[in-house]
Amino acid sequence: MEIHRLDVHDDAATRAFHDVERAVARHDRPHAITRTYDAMLGSWRHPSPYRRYLPLVAVVGGRVVGVAELGFSLQDNMHLADLEISVLPTHRRHGVGRALHVEATRLRRAEGRTSCCGEVYEVPGSASPGVAFATALGYRSRHVEDHLLLPLPAVPPPVDVAGYEVLTWRDRCPDEYVDTYCEMRTRMNHDVPLGELDYEPVDMTVERLRVGEERTGRSYTSVVAVARRKADGVFGGYSLTYLAHGTDQALQDDTLVMPEHRGRHLGAALKAATLAIVLAEHPDRVAIHTWTDPDNAAMYRTNTAFGYRSVERMHEMQTTDPTTL
Ligand SMILES: CC(C)(COP(=O)(O)OP(=O)(O)OC[C@H]1O[C@@H](n2cnc3c(N)ncnc32)[C@H](O)[C@@H]1OP(=O)(O)O)[C@@H](O)C(=O)NCCC(=O)NCCS
Repeated sequence: MEIHRLDVHDDAATRAFHDVERAVARHDRPHAITRTYDAMLGSWRHPSPYRRYLPLVAVVGGRVVGVAELGFSLQDNMHLADLEISVLPTHRRHGVGRALHVEATRLRRAEGRTSCCGEVYEVPGSASPGVAFATALGYRSRHVEDHLLLPLPAVPPPVDVAGYEVLTWRDRCPDEYVDTYCEMRTRMNHDVPLGELDYEPVDMTVERLRVGEERTGRSYTSVVAVARRKADGVFGGYSLTYLAHGTDQALQDDTLVMPEHRGRHLGAALKAATLAIVLAEHPDRVAIHTWTDPDNAAMYRTNTAFGYRSVERMHEMQTTDPTTL
């Protein structure tokens, strides 16, 4: 077996990487959302000022049988790296995953990153190779989220939010709202439950938002709803949904209600607003997915009222190097 750094400008090699990543996710997880080839390539071939990736492949007999992607933030969380490893079912329990991990760990340490995290999934009723593998390599579960799915079309529950108006946009936040929207995005990053993960929440600046919108827009349509109090124009929350180009799925991402506006079902109203746009403008989508901490009672209840049901559990696993290596 050989472990190589992937040349991200080699079309055949990047295709082989993506084929393995997708085949593994589909084999292990019936409801997995996989990134498209174009989205993967976009993140590698157009480097971001905020993120860097080092993809690796494991080759046996001239064939790619395992892949790994090591990622780093470049302007925050400088102690951290994230890592995803996938090995074809036909080549498991032969040390391929471990060999990819050894090389990824060498590269991580060479970058001065002392901690590493990665997501693994448990599907109800089947043992999780990801949890067993990560645990064997010294990682511990630090944060848990349920992956919830709602088949489409769906009927949102009726919500009355007297005193607020809901505004929506696609892809790019209008300039007039951008400062307030960044404040809410920052608040979301600080408020979202992250269990015991050793991760520093990131403040959203206008520059970071605009770079993100431009990059995301190449592979996704995004739909945003915000709630504004009619009496004084103060923003009370937002909800953000992504639609990957060329797929039939939708992703319900962040939903935040600012503290002084909580307890009025604004979260449900915001989710209903983005869902209405998904249904009207993207009738090809057959399901919408979201991820919620099972201890986040308010958001879990909101999701259940929409008809979302849990299909798998995600563990964010993390390991930290001892101070003397
Ligand atoms: C997890 C995964 C990468 C393991 O790949 P692999 O090549 O089979 O792993 P290795 O053979 O190197 O296993 C290393 C150790 O992990 C543990 N392990 C791996 N798979 C396991 C399983 N199914 N059950 C129990 N322990 C397991 C064992 O301790 C193993 O050592 P051993 O074989 O000497 O007992 C592979 O099953 C996979 O791609 N799963 C889906 C994606 C995923 O969950 N990735 C997790 C990392 S992000």
